[in-house]
Amino acid sequence: MDISPAPRPVLELRDIVKTYGGVHALDTVSFTLLPGEVHCLAGENGSGKSTLIKIISGVETPDSGVIVVGGERHASMTPASAIAAGVQVIYQDFSLFPNLSVAENIAMPRQRAVGGRFYSARAARPIAQGIVDELGLALDLDADVAALSVADKQLTAICRALVSDAQIIIMDEPTTALTGAEVTALFALVRRLQSRGVSLIFVSHKLDEVLRVSQRLTVLRNGTWVATGAAGDYDRDAIAGLMTGKDIDTSRVVSAVPADAAIALEVKGLGRPGAFADVDLVVRCGEIVGLTGLLGSGRGEIAEAIFGVRPATTGTIAVGGHPVRIQSIPDAVAAGIGYVPEDRLTQGLFLDDSIADNVVAASVTAFAGRARLLDRARMLAFIQSVASRLRIKAPNLSLAVRSLSGGNAQRVVLAKWLMTNPKVLLLNGPTVGVDVGSKSEILEILRTQASAGMGVVVISDDIPELYSACHRVLIVQGGRIVCELAGDAVRVETIEQRIAA
Ligand SMILES: Nc1ncnc2c1ncn2[C@@H]1O[C@H](COP(=O)(O)OP(=O)(O)OP(=O)(O)O)[C@@H](O)[C@H]1O
Ligand SMILES: [Mg+2]
Repeated sequence: MDISPAPRPVLELRDIVKTYGGVHALDTVSFTLLPGEVHCLAGENGSGKSTLIKIISGVETPDSGVIVVGGERHASMTPASAIAAGVQVIYQDFSLFPNLSVAENIAMPRQRAVGGRFYSARAARPIAQGIVDELGLALDLDADVAALSVADKQLTAICRALVSDAQIIIMDEPTTALTGAEVTALFALVRRLQSRGVSLIFVSHKLDEVLRVSQRLTVLRNGTWVATGAAGDYDRDAIAGLMTGKDIDTSRVVSAVPADAAIALEVKGLGRPGAFADVDLVVRCGEIVGLTGLLGSGRGEIAEAIFGVRPATTGTIAVGGHPVRIQSIPDAVAAGIGYVPEDRLTQGLFLDDSIADNVVAASVTAFAGRARLLDRARMLAFIQSVASRLRIKAPNLSLAVRSLSGGNAQRVVLAKWLMTNPKVLLLNGPTVGVDVGSKSEILEILRTQASAGMGVVVISDDIPELYSACHRVLIVQGGRIVCELAGDAVRVETIEQRIAA
């Protein structure tokens, strides 16, 4: 019988309440973090995960509740008191200094702490080398951070956190931009951190990863606590059920498209040297076509060429049966093509502008009346209807997009393009960072759009999503479409095998 007392938590939140303008982001939520554990926070978009993290790191002040860290009780933290208590957050943009070297970035907090007004590149090196060696990493300390891969930037941020004596490391969706191999490497590092006694809080929408890396998990729903338990006691479906309070339908639902349905998009012999070649693609009205392949296969470049981001140098494109010349994004928009980019935060949104302004950004000219004055009332009514159709969760649409949770920001990008009523809609990673419940809703929206006559192309590496929504799936390898799966051949295992082949 195990009679050892339960270890004392390194961090404890008791009955935390946080409201924004009357809306409960967190409603009496409690949470404990044990020494050396990986504790996953799961929950739908807007359930309060990032808010919980901000309260721990001192970025937000709770309305009520208690925070106990390092044995001391606090009504709230400040960024400085959180760091002093050993809390380090690794944000999605990593907050690194791009014009400094890896070594300088890693050593920065230590050099600041010893009171140096000037940090010296020479003194930075041994500090950085120490931690890199200790973790057994292969980081080039002299490289400029701006030139690093996403994975190496993340390692740099982790090293910097450890240099500041982090006891608690928090990572908000750390794997969204990593390849499979990089995720495995990150998880190996997480285990090494644990063996040093570091505790980690990990936020992810990828439930398989949640189960792989964590010992315990806590599920939030709509700002309230739903469950905490050992990761081993849950499977994917159980977590999804706790998050949403309902069963999620991941089965395949595709409507019948007549073989003679009008062609929305036809691409022939599309190519750009070094990126992709000989790409032929037909998307009929009503059809959802998936485009997939490994990172670097060229699938994203093909989509960007069709949307004029980086135009193709050979081949032809026709929309609705009419040949179009696409040399720029305005060319593509004028031709009736919409594009939801992969990196929504930097490419798709104006974060400091309101939700309404973002939703209308791509279609504002359509609301210009005869006197060239915007028909505001009509426009606002339209924005309202699109926002409610997409269930954008916000107290009101005049708030800045920055205040939205990640998944809701993704819906704003989608709304923006649906407002333009394109003939063809390309979506690159439409559900990255989106919770399972919202994911099935977004797929349902795409089905509805297709049924209304749109041609839809989904670029994704989320295979269950391709299976669930796509009439056909095209697989890209080395810049070429090497395989097409249609009808009954669209199966999760088949897609996996063909991508890896
Ligand atoms: N600064 C703010 N002003 C107003 N409302 C906010 C603000 N920050 C968060 N919220 C609201 O609080 C709720 C919780 O948001 P939070 O960002 O914590 O969700 P999340 O669980 O991290 O979601 P996601 O998975 O989409 O990132 C949401 O309804 C959000 O709109
Ligand atoms: Mg969040």
